Amino acid sequence: MRMRKLEHSFGVEFDQVDVNRITDTELDMAREAQNEHGVVFFRDQKMSCDQHINFANRLGDIVINRFFETVDGYPNIAQVRKEPKHKTVVGSSWHTDHSYDQIPAKGSILYAKEVPSSGGDTLFASMYLAYDTLSPGFKETLEGLTAIHSSRHTFSKSAVTSEDPNEDRYVNSHLATQDARHPVIITHPDSGKKALYVNPDFTVKFDGWTEEESAPMLEYLYQHASQAEFVMRFQWQKGSIAFWDNRATWHQAQNDYPGERRLMHRITLEGAPLS
Ligand code: SIN
Repeated sequence: MRMRKLEHSFGVEFDQVDVNRITDTELDMAREAQNEHGVVFFRDQKMSCDQHINFANRLGDIVINRFFETVDGYPNIAQVRKEPKHKTVVGSSWHTDHSYDQIPAKGSILYAKEVPSSGGDTLFASMYLAYDTLSPGFKETLEGLTAIHSSRHTFSKSAVTSEDPNEDRYVNSHLATQDARHPVIITHPDSGKKALYVNPDFTVKFDGWTEEESAPMLEYLYQHASQAEFVMRFQWQKGSIAFWDNRATWHQAQNDYPGERRLMHRITLEGAPLS
């Protein structure tokens, strides 16, 4: 297996490896690289659903996303799908998976089954870089804060139907009821590094503040964290895999391939409470 640090970005790409036959040592390398950089990629893979699950099982415990449609016969594989008729894409605003859960997902493994002729990239932003580049005074202020995250405004019935009249990709809107509370600055459970842990899709407000009071500071953090220097773009090919860390990165799917199909399979890995 060969490891290549991506130029002008924080990601790492592996090639000359088949993830179905990856050794424990190679897997440790990938895990370490992900710990350090937040996201790693593999190209030219061929994984059946069972092989995707086997790969995921070697990286952690699978947690089922309750709002995404799943692959027939595989309830632990979520489908991330855009058909020619769809106007929106799943995951088009910056987010980190499952931050609306009190125990958010630690990682996600997204596998490209079908890609459009062009476009459909995914952007990743480093929350390590976002944190590191804040001023000492602002870091101190944020260290004292927790934030409320919610699935309601993204996955509830009103959110889903108002966004796209063709919507048929989300399920269980009645389960979009709970909120979670997380520190705004977390210490990453594996790397020990500090990271910013709020995101535009799921963070509602600072705990104890109103939404109106929270909005300006959250907006500042979102602008700061999504500036070009902290963002990398991954161009998918059929067979590419991205394995990202949900505590250290945000991601955002691009909606720039109207009339074409894109189909990804995603497995999400269970994390630990954040502090
Ligand atoms: C996601 O938000 O998990 C999907 C990202 C993508 O489809 O690029």
